[in-house]
Amino acid sequence: MMTETTLGYEYWGLLASTWDLWRDDTANWADRQLFLEVIRRYGEPVLDIGCATGRLILDFLGQGIDCDGVDISPEMLAITHAKAAARGLRPNLYQQHMEALDLLRAYRTILVPSSSFQLITDASAAQEAMRRFYSHLLPGGVLVMPFFLPWQPGQPLEADWSLVFEKARAEDGLKVRRWSYERYEPNVQLWHSKDRFEVVRGDEVIDTENHERSPAGRWYSQAQAVALYEANGFVNVRVTSEFTDAPAAEGDMLFCVWGEKRS
Ligand SMILES: C[S@@+](CC[C@H](N)C(=O)[O-])C[C@H]1O[C@@H](n2cnc3c(N)ncnc32)[C@H](O)[C@@H]1O
Repeated sequence: MMTETTLGYEYWGLLASTWDLWRDDTANWADRQLFLEVIRRYGEPVLDIGCATGRLILDFLGQGIDCDGVDISPEMLAITHAKAAARGLRPNLYQQHMEALDLLRAYRTILVPSSSFQLITDASAAQEAMRRFYSHLLPGGVLVMPFFLPWQPGQPLEADWSLVFEKARAEDGLKVRRWSYERYEPNVQLWHSKDRFEVVRGDEVIDTENHERSPAGRWYSQAQAVALYEANGFVNVRVTSEFTDAPAAEGDMLFCVWGEKRS
């Protein structure tokens, strides 16, 4: 049976192949505008870490922005390569763990979109990733990462199974359903997840796939995220609200942390 443990990466099978089907049109997502503004201010080259199926890197390359991508899932990277070829683009894509990032180039802007940094669950691996992000920045360059809080005090410790999407896939018209379940451990700021996929022909389920990640991710308060940046040498560290340039409010469930490498 395929699992994250046997494969060494989490985004496999139907999670990878239905990623774009689930996300649909992302052109107007708020993070895209913010990241374009970050690139305008801090410059190129840009590194998109956890680039997945290429939502941002292909968009940026299409605009003439010099951007490389990193992801640990060969299945996600294969989709990006195919989409790039269809658009006449030739991205530099690297299959690496962000906590073992080792590239020949340094960057003015490093982005870790969609809170993918929080997928590192081991605290020392997260520190190592921060060290590597810092060493891959040019002086004066910036690291911008969004963080989200999946749970807050007073909420239940479990989010019961719920339907994430049910859509027909383009290649064969078959319906795909995804359900998800999450459990939260506030004392260690970790969450655990299960996903179940079904492929349906008519009324018959012809394929199922189960994904389980325990732990699946780690969350950080704003102060903890700032401390992580500062402990790894970043300066001018600031926290902005959601995908804006405005200072974050204390209760924000989604915030971006910006940190610069000393010039
Ligand atoms: C939530 S998706 C990111 C989506 C994409 N950044 C976007 O904004 O559309 C997370 C991605 O991070 C990748 N990933 C997870 N853990 C990783 C790690 N430790 N190092 C590198 N990539 C990782 C996954 O394979 C997946 O493609």
